[in-house]
Amino acid sequence: MARAFEIEPIDATFGAVVRGIRLADIDAAAFRQLHDAWLEYALLVFPGQHLRRDEQVAFARRFGALEFEILPISNVRSDGTVRPEQDNDDVIKILKGNMGWHHDSTYMPVQAKGAVFSAEEVPGSGGQTGFADMRAAYDALDAATRARLEGMSAHHSLHYSQSKLGHSARKADGEYHGYGFHDGPVPLRPLVKVHPETGRKSLLIGRHAHNIPGLAPDESERFIEGLIDFACQPPRTYHHDWTPGDTVLWDNRCLMHQATPWDMTQRRIMWHSRIAGDPASESAVSAVASG
Ligand SMILES: [Fe+2]
Repeated sequence: MARAFEIEPIDATFGAVVRGIRLADIDAAAFRQLHDAWLEYALLVFPGQHLRRDEQVAFARRFGALEFEILPISNVRSDGTVRPEQDNDDVIKILKGNMGWHHDSTYMPVQAKGAVFSAEEVPGSGGQTGFADMRAAYDALDAATRARLEGMSAHHSLHYSQSKLGHSARKADGEYHGYGFHDGPVPLRPLVKVHPETGRKSLLIGRHAHNIPGLAPDESERFIEGLIDFACQPPRTYHHDWTPGDTVLWDNRCLMHQATPWDMTQRRIMWHSRIAGDPASESAVSAVASG
């Protein structure tokens, strides 16, 4: 059958812009085509959707069970006031932490499959969301590095990544003790992930990754930072400049993403729905009591 939408590849190793379809109103055949495009491009951008929150949740749910339905990613408080950009504000620390490249929920027992993310209110400049193709990054590595990575793994923890910004969720008076501060055993994940649906290999790294077994902590940190620096370079990156009403869908099993800075006196309200990973393929290989 004819394609149910128009699709235009982004000028990068991944990603496409999809037009001519309303996500709140797609049939099973169109969904199958969209799902295939998602697996191929890993990032789909849908301008001008203006989804209601329940429509966004329903769309995300088509891709599987949700890790959580929908949460604001925002510097605007629930009472409508703008949160001051203060170093001691835990929500600001989370927003700034998100500016480091990462995969979502690698610090949880099951890594996320993907996400639907949409813009309600955006600042006049800045505040883009960056994406980076870890399939292409893996493919670009030299053979010796690929061989070395094959047996390697790293621990993943939000406590670790946020502690680098001076954010401890373990202190009793902190404002944010919220999602992701997993206090169970620290998941250990391979540095090379095999995609459960495409079979493609990709790098599984990012700001939550640390303490590679067999390396000293500082050596591990340098090694992971070197991989991130190598991986997140053009043509493997794309930064989306948001317009209110835009929705994106990404595959968290093979892409990393990052927020980027903006003038935090300006309002930015985004909505994130997180699709749960399959425990058969997104569980950690093991977990240790401290990592
Ligand atoms: Fe994220």
